Amino acid sequence: MNVRLFTKAQFRIGTPSLADVTSPVDKEWANRIRALAAEKDAVILAHNYQVPEIQDVAHHVGDSLALSRIAATVPESTIIFCGVHFMAETAKILSYDKTIIIPDERAGCSLADTITADQLREWKAQHPGAVVVSYVNTTAAVKAETDICCTSSNAVEVVQSIPADVPVLFCPDQFLGAHVQRMTKRDNMHIWMGECHVHAGINGSELKAMVAAEPDAELFVHPECGCATSAMYLASEGVVPAERTHILSTGGMLDAARTTKAKKVLVATETGMLHQLRKVNVTTVFEPVNRAAVCKYMKMITPEKLEHALVHGTDVVDVPRDIADRARLSVERMIAIGTPSRVGE
Ligand code: 13P
Ligand code: SF4
Repeated sequence: MNVRLFTKAQFRIGTPSLADVTSPVDKEWANRIRALAAEKDAVILAHNYQVPEIQDVAHHVGDSLALSRIAATVPESTIIFCGVHFMAETAKILSYDKTIIIPDERAGCSLADTITADQLREWKAQHPGAVVVSYVNTTAAVKAETDICCTSSNAVEVVQSIPADVPVLFCPDQFLGAHVQRMTKRDNMHIWMGECHVHAGINGSELKAMVAAEPDAELFVHPECGCATSAMYLASEGVVPAERTHILSTGGMLDAARTTKAKKVLVATETGMLHQLRKVNVTTVFEPVNRAAVCKYMKMITPEKLEHALVHGTDVVDVPRDIADRARLSVERMIAIGTPSRVGE
């Protein structure tokens, strides 16, 4: 078997290789996956919440925005999307002529399920003239009713790009919406009351207890968290110095992990994130705020299912052409705004 060992310098954008294989992965399996991908002219994309084995075998690992950007530009004819269904749909919207495969189409998202296209149409009718900003965690049908999509890494910039006197309908995540409203100080933002069950479960009291027990630790908080408001409250009250509290997308967490000098960082997001954080910074201790913050949908994508997907070409993700055409504009606006976050390869 010809598997090189991981070195830090190799964990950068470059020619896809198996140089980054650091999880206790079966290297024979990993080589087989890469060979199958080459044979099928497929590229494997993995979200930061995937299981370590899948993150390590993927050609590209990143946050939602980075993966959307990659999906729009990769040369391969097939994209194997190791993430959840709305992410694979977004890849289809951006690369309509490519074959998009998700290893298990049942991998949904509790947040995307909190708003339907009908509900959004009804909301729009109540606020004529408002601009609709939808988080990328939405179905293709909702994106088709949206003016601009955003992800957690560019939500603030997306809302800032809308003239200050134009009302904004922001959906579906209430915690991300509250974060954007705080950052932009907009008083004409209407926020949909959706939430992700995993992030909403990371609450302020847990965070407060951990901060009290670890007074020197830095905090990385995903803006979908139920604790985001509490984290900012703790910071503004001086309980946690503001400079140690960072509200970040998963890609933003990785950038911050590369440069932090902290001995310990408390991480408030889905626990799959810890794998990449520990990979890019081996000297800092990264600890989850809530060990039970596991997205069962992300974890539906297993190494066995990835292999099955490559061999059998299933599950194919399709989006009706008219919906994809209407959704594309809002997704393309999203990928044009904000600083690209880095991806691992
Ligand atoms: P990111 O956009 O930060 O990757 O988050 C996606 C997601 O689903 C968070 O739960
Ligand atoms: Fe959806 Fe939450 Fe899972 Fe992210 S962590 S994919 S928002 S259910």
